[in-house]
Amino acid sequence: MRSLLSPLRLGPAELQNRIVSTAHQTTLIRDHLPTDDFVAYHEARAAGGAGLIVLEAAAVHPSGLLTDKTLGIFDEVAVPSLARVADAVHAHGTRLFVQLFHGGREQIMSPPRQPAVAPSAVPTPRFHVEPRALEGHEIEEIIAGYGKGAAIAAAAGLDGVEISAAHNYLIAEFFSTETNRRTDEWADGRRLLRAILSSVRDSAPELAVGVRVSADAAVTGEIVEQLTGRADYVSFALGDASTLMGATGIVPPPPVPHNAIADHADGHRSALPRIVTSRIVEPAEADALIASGRGDAVGMTRALIVDPGMPRKLRSGRERELLRCIGCNVCIAHYHAGTPIACAQNPRTGRERHLGPPQPGGERARVVVVGAGPAGLAATREAALRGHEVVVFESEDEIGGQVRLMRDAPGQAEIAETLVRNYDETLRSARVKLRLGTAADVDGIGALGPDLVVVATGAEPYRAPIPIEGAEPLAGWDVLRGERPRGRVLVADWGGDPTGLDCAELLAAAGCEVTLTVAATAVGESLHSYRRALYLARLYSAGVGIRHHLRLVGVTPAGGLFANLFAGDVRELIQADHVVLAQGRVPAPDPSAGLRRLGLEVRRAGDCASPRSLEEAILEGTMAVAGWAERAGARQASAVHTA
Ligand SMILES: Cc1cc2nc3c(=O)[nH]c(=O)nc-3n(C[C@H](O)[C@H](O)[C@H](O)COP(=O)(O)O)c2cc1C
Ligand code: SF4
Repeated sequence: MRSLLSPLRLGPAELQNRIVSTAHQTTLIRDHLPTDDFVAYHEARAAGGAGLIVLEAAAVHPSGLLTDKTLGIFDEVAVPSLARVADAVHAHGTRLFVQLFHGGREQIMSPPRQPAVAPSAVPTPRFHVEPRALEGHEIEEIIAGYGKGAAIAAAAGLDGVEISAAHNYLIAEFFSTETNRRTDEWADGRRLLRAILSSVRDSAPELAVGVRVSADAAVTGEIVEQLTGRADYVSFALGDASTLMGATGIVPPPPVPHNAIADHADGHRSALPRIVTSRIVEPAEADALIASGRGDAVGMTRALIVDPGMPRKLRSGRERELLRCIGCNVCIAHYHAGTPIACAQNPRTGRERHLGPPQPGGERARVVVVGAGPAGLAATREAALRGHEVVVFESEDEIGGQVRLMRDAPGQAEIAETLVRNYDETLRSARVKLRLGTAADVDGIGALGPDLVVVATGAEPYRAPIPIEGAEPLAGWDVLRGERPRGRVLVADWGGDPTGLDCAELLAAAGCEVTLTVAATAVGESLHSYRRALYLARLYSAGVGIRHHLRLVGVTPAGGLFANLFAGDVRELIQADHVVLAQGRVPAPDPSAGLRRLGLEVRRAGDCASPRSLEEAILEGTMAVAGWAERAGARQASAVHTA
């Protein structure tokens, strides 16, 4: 890790290493200002050893706010709260920049919305905003806003600012003739960026100044060329916020390959230091990118969202303890839902002030975990990190539960494989006894005398009570396990989880003629929009026929019988040789009641409590142990106190 952990200079700012937490919205903002949770979130990443943190997109003008939780840097009122972030981050030797941003014609908020502004009045295809063209004096005001934002950052003690010219927000809208149809002096959009850079330099000459661009945008080459002598670094990202497919590049999920940025950034040489970002997950690969000169620093943003301590672990040779990002995009899904940032794998992300790291010490307890899917594995890790003895019962011959089922599906394979791998270190612990292929029986568990039993037995497919005559439909899980019918296959998807999509993709790849019906407004509603868009691209390319708004009401030898979701009396038979049912899940049987009758402390976690997503499973598995340990600790403390 010599290259990755070596220092780097960006203008006046010296970084202790080349690992960067690039700008990402946290929704830990109130009244457009950082909250205490925001300070704690970034302090955790600084304490974890990041070389540089770039704070999220901060609007330089009220007209540039993307959401009602966007950070604002247009008023001096922001100085004290930004200064608190700077103090917290600097205490750990990490440098702190902020991204200066204007959303242009894009808006991601609910009504009442302010008027949207853009170089020209061109509606946006993704968020469906209809802006008006900026007047000349408004452009001057926005340019001055960038200068003021930089001055506010300097007054708060930050080390630098990064101007976002990426992702097709305001500055990039000026670059393209599609969005900039002006005939005045702003017809050449590069002029705007130059004016902004001058405004920023004049207002805060002591700061490092960088520019973020999308490496996959058509005009990027020209833009990068004009930065030499004007900026201290260039940051390469991917994606275009204005289109559904372009947006998938901003936070690309698997199966987009690791280090996706590298090939794009290679096309843009620059005399300036280059930060490269997107799908850089493995520290060894990051190190190799830097060693080979393909970047001078790496954005490892989701890698730090999931494991804020990654740089310190690398420095102290504890790489085996890394929690690797699986690319599930739950973090950005929280942003789009307007809820505080969270990570499916690390429940402490976004909860830094309320849920501290697990500490060994205190009474050593015996914890039994029933089920080694995500909830059970999370409970196991939490208990092992707290120093407890853990016995895990898993009825299958391998760990992972439903996640393992999905390992062949292109949209899930890396998620499944990396998630399971992330528990290697926990399961290596001498404190953990894993009993695979062993169904847990109540008396056997009772005989172990556990202090706590976490029941995480997962879910099983729901069998809808519909008439099935002369046909034998397959369960979606059978397809995930490897069954491959032949001919015309109809996948009847209820729309609440990705099982139907995975089945359709796997069957199309096996040569079937696939029709996917969805009993929802749109396909893949339960998935984050970037994952959904990539699923749809793959399904359409594979020739899968997609039919919306169809609820399965029966299966016959000729195919599936459907009712229209909205006009229920509109019925249709879709002919097929085989029907695959993806109709949701129900909790699997679990032994909680019997265990409670033995007087044991029992907590359910994940799908056996009611089937939901990976995020809830891991959160509940973790909290089943953390919540219990804290209560037990409190009981002990009060006993000592009363004694
Ligand atoms: C929750 C979230 C919010 C983001 N917000 C911003 C932002 O404010 N500005 C920006 O330039 N990029 C933003 N990004 C993109 C990241 O900076 C980064 O380019 C992206 O996550 C890909 O890098 P990674 O694969 O290392 O995560 C955001 C990413 C996430 C996950
Ligand atoms: S939520 Fe998923 S994508 Fe985001 S950091 Fe966590 S593991 Fe990675």
